[in-house]
Amino acid sequence: MTAGRWAAPGRVNLIGEHVDYAGGLCLPFALAERTVVEARPRDDGRFTARSTAETGTVDLALDEIGPGAPAGWAGYPAGVLWALRAAGHPVGGLDVVVTDTVPLGAGLSSSAALECAVALAADDLYGLGLPRTALAAACVRAENEVVGAQTGGMDQAAALLATAGHALLLDTRDGSTRQVPFAPADAGLAVLVIDTRVRHHLADGQYGARRAAVEKAAAALGVPSLRGLDVADLRDLDADLLPRARHVVTEIARVGEVVALLDAGRLPAIGPLLDASHASLRDDYAVSCAELDLAVAAAREGGALGARMTGGGFGGSAVALVPLDRLDAVTRTVRAAFAAAGHREPTIRTAEPSEGARRLS
Ligand code: GLA
Repeated sequence: MTAGRWAAPGRVNLIGEHVDYAGGLCLPFALAERTVVEARPRDDGRFTARSTAETGTVDLALDEIGPGAPAGWAGYPAGVLWALRAAGHPVGGLDVVVTDTVPLGAGLSSSAALECAVALAADDLYGLGLPRTALAAACVRAENEVVGAQTGGMDQAAALLATAGHALLLDTRDGSTRQVPFAPADAGLAVLVIDTRVRHHLADGQYGARRAAVEKAAAALGVPSLRGLDVADLRDLDADLLPRARHVVTEIARVGEVVALLDAGRLPAIGPLLDASHASLRDDYAVSCAELDLAVAAAREGGALGARMTGGGFGGSAVALVPLDRLDAVTRTVRAAFAAAGHREPTIRTAEPSEGARRLS
């Protein structure tokens, strides 16, 4: 057992939004932006954590970690140790220092990156030899049970299982994955990530409410999940549940169409499906916001082939598929639209499908 450094990336989701907790399909890819942790085992059963992005040090006994404890950002790394131990794995104390991080609050899954870097560190330092799918499951459990956020498993799967030059097709019904070649630059395109730099406070409660609505719709229809249903199957649902379920059903179908196009080497043709995904998230699922809608509309006006919000919504980032020779025009159009609307200046970057989590040293 020696100390070392581990890194795990942020992600954007190309398509398949708000379906990972509904047995659906998602297609995220890993970003080059990553969270780096230095970790060192301890033999006294304590967990300590500090971060260059936060003040103070968290220091507690492993036995004190549990639902709601520790509060705040350290719940993510501590929760991973708790989840591994709860699954019966012999994990002891750990010192964790976060030295670099995926942009926080941008909807790029900085929390999953932190969890996954710590999971990989614990796996290496304590010689667990767990498959990455098991590490991802521990990270999800940390988030659901220790932090108390009822998120699905897309972000952790992306951080641990994504590979460079690919998007990760994740089937959340059975947990299976497939690497789908995704090389926008080879097609003269780029994925532009537009961080609106807003985070609406209703996000957490609304996320849980959407998840509950989808589960209620499945229960009302007498099925374990909405996977495999058509829009016609939803007609008897109550008016409040119908649009939520319609988003899930149509979004899962769109993922299938996008994957078929990528497999056929027809990347530019996915644009309209990105647009349709955004409209569905905005109108049926009601998880967009003015800034995201503007980012998407302005990106298209500037020449994007398609654009959509990515991640949980209510702020965070949008993605746009942009011909390389339109990158400047799209960037300018989005910036001008935000300035005219009086919104904060967005942060705009291109995203390359990058490698998943790994040990650095
Ligand atoms: C957040 C959650 C994910 C997923 C997305 C929406 O990023 O962490 O599990 O549900 O929202 O697709």
